[in-house]
Amino acid sequence: MKAPRHFLRLQDFSRRELEALLHRAAELKRMQRAGESYTPLAQRTLAMVFEKSSTRTRVSFETGMAQLGGHALFLSPRDTQLGRGESIEDTARVLSRMVDLIMIRTFSHAGLEAFARASRVPVINGLSDDHHPCQLLADLLTAQELWGSVTGRTVAFIGDGANNMARSWMEAAQLLDFQLQIGAPEGFQPSAAVQAELGARTRVFSNAQAAVQNADLVVTDVWTSMGQEAESAERLARFAPFQVNAALMAQAKPGAVFMHCLPAHRGEEVSAEVIDGPHSLVWEEAENRLHAQKAVLEFLAGFGPVAKSGV
Ligand code: CP
Ligand code: NVA
Repeated sequence: MKAPRHFLRLQDFSRRELEALLHRAAELKRMQRAGESYTPLAQRTLAMVFEKSSTRTRVSFETGMAQLGGHALFLSPRDTQLGRGESIEDTARVLSRMVDLIMIRTFSHAGLEAFARASRVPVINGLSDDHHPCQLLADLLTAQELWGSVTGRTVAFIGDGANNMARSWMEAAQLLDFQLQIGAPEGFQPSAAVQAELGARTRVFSNAQAAVQNADLVVTDVWTSMGQEAESAERLARFAPFQVNAALMAQAKPGAVFMHCLPAHRGEEVSAEVIDGPHSLVWEEAENRLHAQKAVLEFLAGFGPVAKSGV
């Protein structure tokens, strides 16, 4: 049996595939806005396994499947046998004999890869400790809407440079050829191994002001990711100089825009004046989760122009 195609990290797509998917996402968004019915995933089911909380990921995948004519199942450890010790691989084996696609949000990225190896159907990473590729699709779609492409631009990522969002931004910078400037306190910067693998287009700074110089786009993320709650007090103290506020935005390129994957903590990683201000794209960015993921679902299920073109 041929191994299915998975989407566990951004670099699971080639540059051509990624660009084609982003253009397809824009087309699906246009079709949705125009009220066109498009239901290629009729009779198909997506299982959504959530080992961590979610608002956007759950709602965008569930709604996306409904719009594509399919069905989505929400599964959490609290009410499945995962919570009583059934292994992640056994869960993948069973689910993938019944459903057509699986999305999973989990902790360990190695665990996610083991899950995917055991699955007969495509697996989509809805966030792991190391990667959040679906969020990057939405962010890149938002940049595409603004500039046509992020290629050639400069993006500053301010905050936890060792987290899943930072790593997915590093992959995006390599794939789409833009400059990424990470501003993060020492101890919270990409590891030497990550920089060696993914750092070709990334520069790392120990202060936020240096990192935002010349940036067209400033992004941040929570200081304490899911699973790191015990470190919250230490992180609040270490990251305090890394808040994205009006003074920091003033050091970026004039007219620079702001993104945040959300959920946001106003007064911590971002000030209210920035996230609620005129240069913030966060609500369009959140909506774009839906359109970008519909393009991925369509592609991995073997439908639509990107799958057919064989890029
Ligand atoms: N940005 C994001 O993934 O949001 P949720 O945690 O609400 O899914
Ligand atoms: N880095 C955050 C992203 C949330 C969408 C986390 O992992 O909690």
